[in-house]
Amino acid sequence: MCGNKNEIIKFLMTYIVKDECIKCKLTDCVEVCPVDCFYEGENFLAINPDECIDCGVCEPECPIDAIKADTDTSVKDMDKWLLINKKFSAIWPNISKKQEPMDEHEKFRNVKDKYDKHFSEKPKK
Ligand code: SF4
Ligand code: F3S
Repeated sequence: MCGNKNEIIKFLMTYIVKDECIKCKLTDCVEVCPVDCFYEGENFLAINPDECIDCGVCEPECPIDAIKADTDTSVKDMDKWLLINKKFSAIWPNISKKQEPMDEHEKFRNVKDKYDKHFSEKPKK
C-alpha cells in the first residue's frame, strides 16, 4: 500500500528560496522556521525540501519575496529552483539565527535574474 494522504502531500510539497535572495541573504526567514530547515551558502539560502513541513510562515517574512511554495504557478523555472534548494541544502551548513544581510544587498535587491551571473555554489564563508 502507498503511504497515507498526509505522507503523500508531504512528499510533494515544500517551500523554496529563489533568485531574489542571491547577493542579499537578508535572513529574516530563518528565525521563524519551526524545523530549522534553512541552509546557508556564500550568497544564498536553500530550504531542504525533505525537512520542510510546508507551514508557510517563512514566506511573508522575506522582505523581497524570495520564498514561494513549489505549487505557486507564478514562479518562473520552479523545477530549477526545487533542484537548487534540494542539492545545496544537502551540502551547506544549517542556519537558524538572523544575521546581517550581505554588504551589497541594497544594490542587488532589485536586480533580476541573478542566478547565471552571481549564484555561488560555495558554502558560507
Ligand atoms: Fe520552514 Fe515552514 Fe518555511 Fe518550510 S514553510 S522552510 S517548514 S518556515
Ligand atoms: Fe533570502 Fe529572503 Fe531569507 S533574502 S535569506 S529568503 S529573508
